[in-house]
Amino acid sequence: MADLFGGAAPSYAKYRTRPPEPAIAHLAAAFGADSTVLDLGCGPGTLAIPLAGRVREVLAVDPDHGMLAEGRRLARRSPNVRWMAGDSARLGELPAFDHVVMGRSFHWMDRRAVLAEPDALLPRDGVVVLVGPAADEPEQPWEPAMRRVRDASGINTFTASNSYQATGEPREAVLSGSPFRMLARARFEQRLTYDVTAVVGPQLSYPYTVPAALGGRLEAFAEEAGRALLADRPSGRWDLTTVTEVVTARRPPRSP
Ligand SMILES: C[S@@+](CC[C@H](N)C(=O)[O-])C[C@H]1O[C@@H](n2cnc3c(N)ncnc32)[C@H](O)[C@@H]1O
Repeated sequence: MADLFGGAAPSYAKYRTRPPEPAIAHLAAAFGADSTVLDLGCGPGTLAIPLAGRVREVLAVDPDHGMLAEGRRLARRSPNVRWMAGDSARLGELPAFDHVVMGRSFHWMDRRAVLAEPDALLPRDGVVVLVGPAADEPEQPWEPAMRRVRDASGINTFTASNSYQATGEPREAVLSGSPFRMLARARFEQRLTYDVTAVVGPQLSYPYTVPAALGGRLEAFAEEAGRALLADRPSGRWDLTTVTEVVTARRPPRSP
């Protein structure tokens, strides 16, 4: 598997948005307090850590060792998270789990293949839950300026074959063709204000501009991004509303 998020973990944990508390409460209610939840593509524990106190155990699984290390560091007081190296192609090697959650990770995977294994592994009432930005979330207000910086730096944003980037197929279409085809959606909005540090910071957590991709160009890229952003918005202040969508997918009841 390519090193998609190489070196991203610290910026990811510090700067990426987190789902608001009502979204976490919604997830906890979908799973139930007595369940074991696989957080697949857990990153630095964006979902695993706030969920940990509300379910029996979270298996936090990711192929990126930097992400797992950051998660372990942040979760010092969450004893019921088990951090494990692994990936979507090896779910059968994991301890048993009741439900699967994927936060902003499903679109990086071979999505049809990922949904086949949980059908064999989950109890009948097990759910697969996707958490991520809603498809109609407005573009971030700094994105046109950042696009110009990337273009001028010759940065190619295509990073993952065998993923949403490659096929463009909406997640609902993938789910509808899978065993988990009964879908329920919920949306959660947050109003946020960013300064220039908070805009540049997360850029170093996107696969096309993570430290592993930029190498020796990282400092120059961050400096140029800051300069271009402030030229575009001299106030140095950006307001936006994020929309987190939670899609809960179940299997239809078996006919008698
Ligand atoms: C954008 S981060 C999401 C982190 C966290 N779940 C969140 O909600 O913020 C995507 C994560 O998926 C992981 N990932 C990518 N491909 C994967 C795969 N095939 N199986 C499991 N995890 C994968 C990456 O290493 C990365 O940590």
